[in-house]
Amino acid sequence: MSLLAAVPNAQEAVIATNDDATQCKRFAVEKGYWSDPYVSQMVSSAMQRRAPEINRGYYARVRAIQIMTEQFIKLTKQNCQIVNLGAGFDTMYWRLRDSSLLPRQFVEVDFPTVTSRKCHIIQSRKKLSDNINSKDGNLLVSSSDLHADDYHIIGTDLCKLDNLDLKLKDSKVDRSLPTLFICECVLVYIEPEKCEKLIRWISDNFPTAFFLNYEQVNMGDRFGQIMIENLKVRNCLLLGNSACQSLDTQAQRFLTQGWDGAEATPMTTVYRRLPVAEIEKIEKLEFLDELELLDQLFCHYCLCWAYKDANNIGLSKISLHGTLIE
Ligand SMILES: C[S@@+](CC[C@H](N)C(=O)[O-])C[C@H]1O[C@@H](n2cnc3c(N)ncnc32)[C@H](O)[C@@H]1O
Repeated sequence: MSLLAAVPNAQEAVIATNDDATQCKRFAVEKGYWSDPYVSQMVSSAMQRRAPEINRGYYARVRAIQIMTEQFIKLTKQNCQIVNLGAGFDTMYWRLRDSSLLPRQFVEVDFPTVTSRKCHIIQSRKKLSDNINSKDGNLLVSSSDLHADDYHIIGTDLCKLDNLDLKLKDSKVDRSLPTLFICECVLVYIEPEKCEKLIRWISDNFPTAFFLNYEQVNMGDRFGQIMIENLKVRNCLLLGNSACQSLDTQAQRFLTQGWDGAEATPMTTVYRRLPVAEIEKIEKLEFLDELELLDQLFCHYCLCWAYKDANNIGLSKISLHGTLIE
């Protein structure tokens, strides 16, 4: 009998990052960093304590994405769609529903292994299934997909564009509507050529689109190399690392693939643009003596956004406005 723990294959290792992200989000929510009544439905309580800097990192990531998403929805007066690529167990659909800010269609994409688990969780938790809009109360669920009136979960590899195209059509996605694509720590797991094809395919097919991408940056330095090595031990390879070298490489991959404009902002800056009252509140939640570590973490993640605005609806104006605390 072997005493060695089974090493996950590369895809299993990437899929496991969703469990980790969901556990971290649940832990931070339970600490009071932000409110999300649904994340506890997605995963069991975190066994492992998370360090304060990790909680602050998740807070900044979740809040920045939420703030920019809400701007997009308000700008389009909800006459829009959201497609979350590599959504994992994200709960944004329910949070937007609670704020009466749902777009016309909300679609989540992930590997079928992940989406079938999410479909199963939704079906077995009334707090989730009862809060999905569907006229007759029925959710159309197959092995890895779910379709309701305005919420869809589709299982496909993001690199299989024909299948993605087909499944987005099944989800009533209308290419002429303004569409927000959200990607949170996903592209970094995809080979650069495949990622470029995905970004190009979106820009070719959605004339009015906004892309919000959160992921690693400055990966060429010592701290970045340690992050890469730590993940490699778990067989989790950052295949898309070449686009995560600098803010410029992050933005350029959109500009070279047909997008009109792109901007990448380090999380150090994003954090200082979040609502001041909120920052004051969350900074009191836990004592943080490793400010340097927090700064290093923030330096190695960024928020990058890109837009295509065929009808000039003002997508270039979406940004993190807040007060920049110097
Ligand atoms: C770090 S998790 C992030 C999940 C979610 N976006 C969040 O922030 O909580 C990365 C997710 O991307 C998904 N993913 C990575 N590569 C993918 C691909 N080629 N096709 C579909 N999903 C993919 C994984 O399955 C996983 O759910």
